[in-house]
Amino acid sequence: MTAVAGRIETGNLIGGEYRPSETGRTFESRNPAHSGDVVGVFPRSSASDVNAAVATARAASVGWRRTPWPSRAAIILRAAELLEERKEDLARLMTREMGKVLTEARGDVQEAIDMGKFIAGEGRRAFGETVPSELRDKWAMTMRQPFGVVGCVTPWNFPIAIPSWKIFPAIMAGNAVVFKPAQDTPACALRFVEVFADAGLPPGILNIVFGFGSEAGSALVEHPDIAAVYFTGGVDVGRTVSETCGRMLKKCSLELGGKNAIVVLDDADIELAVDGALWGAFGTAGQRCTASSRLIVERGALDEFTSRLLDRTSRLRLGDGLDETVDVGPVINESQLRRIHSYTDIGRADGATLLIGGEIARDGALAEGWFYPPTVFADVTRSMRIAQEEIFGPTTVIMPATSLDDALDVANSTRYGLSLSVYTNDLRKAFRAIHELHSGIVYVNAPTIGAEIQLPFGGTRDTGNGHREAGGHVLDEFSEWKSIYIDYSGRLQRAQIDTE
Ligand code: UN1
Repeated sequence: MTAVAGRIETGNLIGGEYRPSETGRTFESRNPAHSGDVVGVFPRSSASDVNAAVATARAASVGWRRTPWPSRAAIILRAAELLEERKEDLARLMTREMGKVLTEARGDVQEAIDMGKFIAGEGRRAFGETVPSELRDKWAMTMRQPFGVVGCVTPWNFPIAIPSWKIFPAIMAGNAVVFKPAQDTPACALRFVEVFADAGLPPGILNIVFGFGSEAGSALVEHPDIAAVYFTGGVDVGRTVSETCGRMLKKCSLELGGKNAIVVLDDADIELAVDGALWGAFGTAGQRCTASSRLIVERGALDEFTSRLLDRTSRLRLGDGLDETVDVGPVINESQLRRIHSYTDIGRADGATLLIGGEIARDGALAEGWFYPPTVFADVTRSMRIAQEEIFGPTTVIMPATSLDDALDVANSTRYGLSLSVYTNDLRKAFRAIHELHSGIVYVNAPTIGAEIQLPFGGTRDTGNGHREAGGHVLDEFSEWKSIYIDYSGRLQRAQIDTE
């Protein structure tokens, strides 16, 4: 319970030292369930702090790059083990700072543990290729090399899991990292980074600079010594990050929004689909890029699905996620609360039918925080804004479909392509959906959330820029290839010319 009480006061962690921001400015992190509860005070960094972190990382990166892969992996494995030891404290801190219910916070930490263990295995598996040369007495092979210093900019909705997807593989590949976590969850980021120091990571390899995206975040992306940027967040910021990286010829990996859908076909197990819809739409109070924010239901299943969904939704308990009887926690802050509510107004104005929810919750203790009830709209058509735009809150919409093809077409009808799901007991329909759904992730008989770290994570179209995190090819994102030719013939041999 220690992690739950008290107020953290810290500096940026640069080269193993805690340093205040150069301007001395700070910002607070608050508990979204009790907005008077200050979790911590953190430096509000600017470009000069970022510069110091990048310079430190750059100096440290040489020794790290030369450290053998298995030795780097041993530190990563130790970090994963420390996360495991600290899981409960980290989860409680996360619920306090970010709001997600405790079972989900434990899952968030578990995802990082899984990632650390998975990546540690790469220390003895970072294979290159050896291929025949076209010339005699010449050897041809490849090896991975790090980029140097990379920047990681992460969101608040998975305060430990998402940083782990980036930081573990980045340092495994021999990079040094400057990490700018979301301003809403700096305490979780701090505790995550401290695990690496305790695991024996040399100072300067993982540095954290707290602050706002428009200040520290953009200074990091624009820094000439940052060779690659890994960003998870909204589409508009992602586009700016990509433009900057494009101009500066940096590698840039983006994980952006989603407008994910569950398709429920007439033959589906309806109770199973309702279970999935509740978990997918209202888990993490809908604040996942994978959230099931559209429920596309074939006509024959529509009435039963809708009435069961409403019944179950009405029984969900809203409250502080540290109370283990609570199903849905608060949303992250007041401006998100207002934004989520504005979509209720937009849905009504566009002619959708509000079935449940739709009012900011202010009863009793809920007034101390930022609570929005699970909200469901019906009669939603594909052109409505609530069917197209990412709400990032506990709001989902029911969209009727006339057939399998119509349902798949509706599912594909947004600018995003992260996660799509189909509920059916018909194998042929399931495989047709697997092929036709245009997204990075497809689920059958499971909701749109629940990705595991050993498969690639990411999406098509505006969800990103063609990259994937996690999965068996993860090192491709965090290292670049070096091709090596060794000519042991003792004479000049000209490729393409002296071949026989
Ligand atoms: C996110 O929604 O931002 O699949 C990440 C899931 C989690 C990760 C979600 N494992 O929902």
